[in-house]
This record gives sequence, structure tokens and C-alpha cells, in this order.
Amino acid sequence: MEALSYTPKETAELLGIGPKALVGALKKDTYSAEDVWDLRAKLNLYPPQVGPRKQLFLNFKGGTGKTSLSTSYAWRLAEMGYGVLLVDLDSQGHATKCLGYEGEDFPKTLLDVLVKKAPITQVIQKSRLPNLEFVPSNLSMSTVDLALMPMAGREFKLRNALKDVEAHYDFIIFDAPPSFGLLNLNALMAAQDLVVPVLADFLSFHGLKLLFETVQSLEEDLGHVLDHVFIVVNAFNATFKLAKEALEALKQHYPEFLLPQVIRQCTRFAQASSEGQPIFLFDRDSKGAQDVQVLIEQVLSRIGEGKQGVRKVEPKSA
Ligand SMILES: Nc1ncnc2c1ncn2[C@@H]1O[C@H](COP(=O)(O)OP(=O)(O)OP(=O)(O)O)[C@@H](O)[C@H]1O
Ligand SMILES: [Mg+2]
Repeated sequence: MEALSYTPKETAELLGIGPKALVGALKKDTYSAEDVWDLRAKLNLYPPQVGPRKQLFLNFKGGTGKTSLSTSYAWRLAEMGYGVLLVDLDSQGHATKCLGYEGEDFPKTLLDVLVKKAPITQVIQKSRLPNLEFVPSNLSMSTVDLALMPMAGREFKLRNALKDVEAHYDFIIFDAPPSFGLLNLNALMAAQDLVVPVLADFLSFHGLKLLFETVQSLEEDLGHVLDHVFIVVNAFNATFKLAKEALEALKQHYPEFLLPQVIRQCTRFAQASSEGQPIFLFDRDSKGAQDVQVLIEQVLSRIGEGKQGVRKVEPKSA
């Protein structure tokens, strides 16, 4: 896997400093991800503390952009200086692939944690960014729902497993599979915020209704109340009349949940994932990357900005 490199301009932008300050701290032609992370520590350029914030990208409907958005969102948060853990919950292992890895290369997944009581630290992997770690997934995860079925406290396994490590991260991002089962129930119980990618079509409405009913029964039956639900329209193409009508309908039905930023249709997403790269690595100037950046800013402003401070703990396996 080729090493990451940032130009001086990109590095200064990521750190939020001018070119002179960058050269004063470290003068190079290109900067590695480790250089950027070291410079953050040296110059104390951490973003405001917000975490640990656990956010689940979920829609029971398939192919709405959960993986494309969650992986690029997690990647970008890490580039912005947050400590991030991306948890791949899907036995398709797409989030793992989007980071450039093959799920089958990892002998242990969350199955070992949730069902066989392995500590989560055994399955946390490093990525190419020093402050982004991930839990990989592969086909073995397809048995997790069945394996959890007879277990006591089966809805709380993921929430409990994370307790040991969550203080080490600002964000824990879950990429959910498009299914309705115990694993996703575990993810809902572990999450504080729900991010629901939807397509601007009328079929998506039905899926949203089911999702909101599930969230409501979660509150009533299991006493878990989510802090935020964000609906984000993905793959939007304003030249389609039907897409514009669907967006209007979403605005009418879910005004308090719908984020103003839509993610435009962008073929670079498909190309990026086939190359095993998040969109910010593949093409940081693409429409998709620009839209995810605004999405992050809108979510950060809704969850409220914490106070500026030095992070006391490093990511778990750093
Ligand atoms: N904004 C976009 N513009 C164009 N194509 C997109 C966009 N977002 C996602 N895609 C493409 O749509 C397909 C489905 O996206 P993705 O895999 O992210 O969805 P998903 O909800 O995770 O799917 P699944 O339910 O199978 O997990 C992929 O081929 C992806 O490249
Ligand atoms: Mg997916």
C-alpha cells in the first residue's frame, strides 16, 4: 500500500496554520500522515473535544451510501485531528475494503468480541492514518445474529465491549449492514447518534418509516434514547425532477432530522471504493469529498462544540 503524502499547502490547511508557520515547524516537500499528527502534537493544534461520540450509519435499505459516507466521514474526521475508531459491522466487509484492506486477512472480528468474549483491543487495527483505527469485518460476521440469539443481555454486548476503549477516541463510527437483526440492535444500543443516508426516491420513505418505528420501540422497550438522528440525502441529482420532489417530501416529513447538506451524485465514490480508498484520499477535490466536509461541519455544529483542549489520551493501539 503506497504511503500517504500531503503537499505543504494541504498540510497547512489540515492544521489550520499559514505556510510560514508550517515551514517554521517542519520544512519538507511532502508531509506524511505521521508528520501531520506529530505537528499537531508539537503545535497543540487539536480540534475542540467532543467525544467520545458514538455514531451509527444505518438504513435497513441496501445501497443508500452507508459505507461510502461512513468511511469518508471517519477518514476526514481523523484528518481533521480527531481520534477515530471505525467499526465495520457488515459481513460484506465493505468498510474494511474502503480503507484498503481485505476482511479475510483478519482472523478475528467483532464476532470474537461479541460472542466469544475476546477483548475488543484484540480486533482493533491501525490504518494509514495514525489517529484512525478500525475493527475489520469479513464473512464470519454473517453468523453473529444467530450466535447472539440465545445469549443473556444479547442487545448490550457491543455497548459493553466498547466501554474499555471508548475514552481513547473522539468518535466511534459504525458502518451497519442493510439488515434488521440483533447486530444492528446492538449497534443502536451502543450509539448516541444515528446518521441515516437515504436516496432521494420514494421507496426510501418506506424504509425511513420502519427505521423510526424501530428507534421508537428501542426507547420504549429498552430505555435507550438517541441524542440525535440525522437524515442525509445521498447521490442527489438535481436534474431529476423525481429526486427534487422526493427531497421536498423529506423536508416536509422530517424537517427536524434532515440535514441541509445533500451529498451529490459523484462517480468518484464508486471509483474510490473499487480502489480501496476513502474519497478524501482518492480525490479530495471531488463533489463527494466537498459535500462530506460540509456534512461533518453541520453534524459537529449540531452536536455542539466542546471546549478547546489538549487530548490526554492517545488512540488505544498507538
Ligand atoms: N454520492 C454518490 N454518488 C454516486 N454513487 C454513490 C454515492 N454514494 C454511494 N455511491 C455508490 O452506490 C453504491 C452503494 O453505496 P454503499 O456501498 O456506500 O451503500 P451501502 O448503503 O453501504 O450499501 P449496503 O447496504 O450494501 O451496505 C456503491 O457502488 C457506491 O460507490
Ligand atoms: Mg455498506
